[in-house]
This record gives sequence, C-alpha cells and structure tokens, in this order.
Amino acid sequence: MAATTIIPTLPLTAKTLIFDTASQTLNIHASHPVPPSNPAKNEHLIHVQTTALCTRELDWPTLFPAAMFAENPEKQITPGYDLAGTVITSPPASPFHPGDEVYARTRASRPGNCREYTISRTEEMALKPQKLSWVEAATVPLSAITAWQALFEHAGVKGLDDPSTDGKRVLITAAAGGTGVWLVQLARIAGLHVVAQVGNAKNDKFVKELGASETVNYKTTSLKQWAEREGMVDIVIDLLGGKSLEDEWFCVKDEGTLISIFEPPENQRPEGLKNKVVKNEFFIMEPNGQQLAEVSRLLDEGQCQPVVDSIWELEDYEGAFERLNEGHANGKVVIKVTE
Ligand SMILES: NC(=O)c1ccc[n+]([C@@H]2O[C@H](COP(=O)([O-])OP(=O)(O)OC[C@H]3O[C@@H](n4cnc5c(N)ncnc54)[C@H](OP(=O)(O)O)[C@@H]3O)[C@@H](O)[C@H]2O)c1
Repeated sequence: MAATTIIPTLPLTAKTLIFDTASQTLNIHASHPVPPSNPAKNEHLIHVQTTALCTRELDWPTLFPAAMFAENPEKQITPGYDLAGTVITSPPASPFHPGDEVYARTRASRPGNCREYTISRTEEMALKPQKLSWVEAATVPLSAITAWQALFEHAGVKGLDDPSTDGKRVLITAAAGGTGVWLVQLARIAGLHVVAQVGNAKNDKFVKELGASETVNYKTTSLKQWAEREGMVDIVIDLLGGKSLEDEWFCVKDEGTLISIFEPPENQRPEGLKNKVVKNEFFIMEPNGQQLAEVSRLLDEGQCQPVVDSIWELEDYEGAFERLNEGHANGKVVIKVTE
C-alpha cells in the first residue's frame, strides 16, 4: 500500500463524460452514480486521476456494437480506455489493495475512464511505474500493449531478447503517434533495425531519439518509392490502412510479415501482388496487466519513456477530441480527471 495516499470519502455520484451514440454528442453529467464493483468479476473501484484518448474511439460503438455493448446493457459510452488512478476497493484475493497507485487499459465492452470513479479488473491492471506522473502513466497502457502484441504476438518476434532479430528491419508507419512511439521503442529494445515513417523534421529527430535508425517522410516519399530505393523490410507494422497499406505490400519481403492495427491487409492487397506470400494479419489489442507490468519494468529501468502530446482538463474534453481528430498527435492526448 502506498503510505502517503489519502483515500477520498466515497461519494454517491461522480462527474462522468458520456457519449450519446444517437446524437453523437459528448456531455459531462455532474451527478452520475458511482459505478458498483463486482468482486466476483475481479472488479476494483478506482479513483481516476488521468485517462488518455485513442484515435477513432468514438467510432467503435458504430463499428463494433456487439463488442462495445457486450457488458454494457445500458449502452452508456464513457470515453478514455486508459486509466491511471488509486484503488478504493478491491476483491478479497486481488494483488492490488486500497491505496495502491495503478494503471490499466480497461476493456471497451464496459464504460471507460473519463469519470471520477471507474471499474478495473485484476487482469487489466499493473502498479503505476514509480517514475511516472499521473499524466505520463495514462499515456502508456493502450498504446504500449498494442505495440507489445503487434511485435511479440503477431509479427513473430519472440520477445525482447530474440537473437533472430539481428539484421532484421521493421518499417513502422505513423511512428510519432500514440502507438508508433511504443512500436519504435519496443522494436529497438528487441534488437530490430527500425525504419520510422514521419511527416516533419521535428518528428524525424524525435523518433531517432526513441530508437529509429532511419526515417521516411510521408509528405515527400511514398512507401512504395522508398522501398524501390532502399529495399524491402522483414516486417511492416501498419497504423494507417488505405492507400498506405496498399503501398506497404511493396515494402515487405516475400515470406515477410505485414501486421495492421487499422484493417485486414488483404483489403488492400494490390492487383499485381496476388501471389506474393506474406504473413498478414489485422488484430485488435486485448487488455493485459502482465504485459503492462513488463512495460512498467522497462519504464522504471529507463529503457523507454512515455510520450505526452497534450494535457486537458475534463471540462475541456472538446479541445482534447479536436486535437486527437487533427490526426497529428505526437504521443497521447491526456485528460486530467481529478485536479
Ligand atoms: N487494433 C488495435 O488494437 C488498435 C490499437 C490502437 C490504435 N489503433 C488504431 O491505430 C491507428 C493509429 O493510432 P494512434 O493512436 O497511433 O494514432 P495517432 O496518435 O492519432 O497518430 C498520429 C500520428 O499519425 C501521423 N500521420 C498523420 N497522417 C499521416 C499520414 N498521412 N501518413 C503517415 N503518418 C501520418 C502523424 O504524423 P505527423 O504529426 O508527422 O503528421 C502522427 O504522428 C488509429 O486508427 C487507431 O484507432 C488500433
């Protein structure tokens, strides 16, 4: 238990941001009921400090209604599936105790964390890295776990110490964004040669500081042109879909790997490459507290860093979503829920 943490007296209601899917509008509800936690489902009540937004998350109820409402019969969408906060109540066998400072990517089938009190399950949580502030902690879970699963569960890299990465090149698109910064860092730690796609000189310098060995500027060079000049890579991680994903088929070697977190790569397979043999997959990340704890260790050891794009008060949620929707965030857009 964190010795200095003061647990607030539990109110009956809490400020909660709610997305009305019918009108597609967001509103703060000042007196929403504090959510009940179910110990039988490993649920903890958490006092939220910060959360972060994920690009396109307000589209998920339309794109994936079955998954989004699976555990949410009231169909109440609260944005922000990253969470950093303090445990208020925990189930009897939980490793997390009242007063513990934790962070998590909570499952999107339940309301998210743009609210003063939220629910998180044991299997989603890890202790907050000691070095990180509340704002920094919120930037990590969703993006770092997505990058972890892209590399170590889908792209065939066998972990942080895989000797077979020696000499292998990975191309990471949108590399200075929320997920990209984690792909660059984890790929560098795993020993891959990282080619990072960026859009300006500032991000070029930034991703090289994070671990990229080379960059390609999407404003001046298409990925197809880049591969014609620089040769194909072993692994491509796609964050963009569409025309970019089509070009990425020309960047990956025969028998190489193309992973997208945007859409199935087969959707964009070019006409001329119908017979090219490439392991290709789309996946949606799964919350995973154990993987998050591995990332915590890397953060505490200083092997990688959180990246904050911007910080917004809960009342300024419109500005936060506007910033996100511009599509040029560097790292994560964070909302401070508690002053
Ligand atoms: N499947 C999953 O589990 C999963 C998990 C996480 C995210 N996602 C999805 O993955 C996508 C990326 O997420 P994210 O959080 O990393 O996004 P993000 O933070 O919004 O990405 C912003 C980055 O995109 C770059 N960018 C913008 N336009 C570009 C273009 N035309 N070409 C190349 N780069 C461009 C920007 O670079 P500049 O600033 O230089 O313009 C900026 O660095 C989103 O669609 C998100 O919904 C899926």
